[in-house]
Amino acid sequence: MKVSRRLHQLSEMVRDHYSHIWDCCCDHGLLGQLLLDRGQADCVHFVDVVPALMTQLEAHLQQTYSGKRWQVHCLDVARLPLSNYTQAGKPQLVIIAGVGGDLLMDLVTAICQSQPNVSVEFLLCPVYHTYKVRRALADLSLGLISETLVEDKQRFYEILHVSAAACEPVTPVGEQMWNFSDSVHLTYLQQTLNHYRRMACNPQQDVSAELEAYRRLLPDV
Ligand SMILES: C[S@@+](CC[C@H](N)C(=O)[O-])C[C@H]1O[C@@H](n2cnc3c(N)ncnc32)[C@H](O)[C@@H]1O
Repeated sequence: MKVSRRLHQLSEMVRDHYSHIWDCCCDHGLLGQLLLDRGQADCVHFVDVVPALMTQLEAHLQQTYSGKRWQVHCLDVARLPLSNYTQAGKPQLVIIAGVGGDLLMDLVTAICQSQPNVSVEFLLCPVYHTYKVRRALADLSLGLISETLVEDKQRFYEILHVSAAACEPVTPVGEQMWNFSDSVHLTYLQQTLNHYRRMACNPQQDVSAELEAYRRLLPDV
């Protein structure tokens, strides 16, 4: 299956085998299908709120993946029924990708607050607002397992793998993700700095903390 570089990178960051993986806001379910192909879970769950999409996806999965375990759920990710699938000592993996940072944070917060005792890891790839997302993840006491930066069709995406059990802090601008010998990373940093410089021209918005944090990352030349 041909998928975007972003989806490929997300699938590569699923290194362990899980009892349950949730491909949330799945749209056509490409990421979940990659994970089914790779046998990364006992069961892959596909979740989206659009009924027509889910009906179409279910028909496709019945034809293509009849021998594998998967489930299709047409529901709001904020109401994910994780507690119905718990297995002692085994975390479930919840993937939320390709949605805006504000929605992504609302969904992660709802899941953490409604099911505080369920063991869960999150693999997250917001579109925009990454600084805000990172701050909110830290506020939810989620720690970092890994983070990476990927460029896909001239757009940049940060991918964060986090869980409550991980001890390393999630920092507002990222740490282990950066590799400044890679020109892609430098371009992303410059683009992000330019974005906050433009915002700083608006006296209604205080982005001095963001600007300073990204400025500190600039390598000495
Ligand atoms: C752009 S697609 C992302 C597809 C895929 N995850 C990716 O990364 O390419 C966004 C999807 O999120 C779904 N969505 C938005 N809010 C949702 C919610 N609260 N619960 C479930 N699905 C939602 C939309 O219906 C849409 O199919």
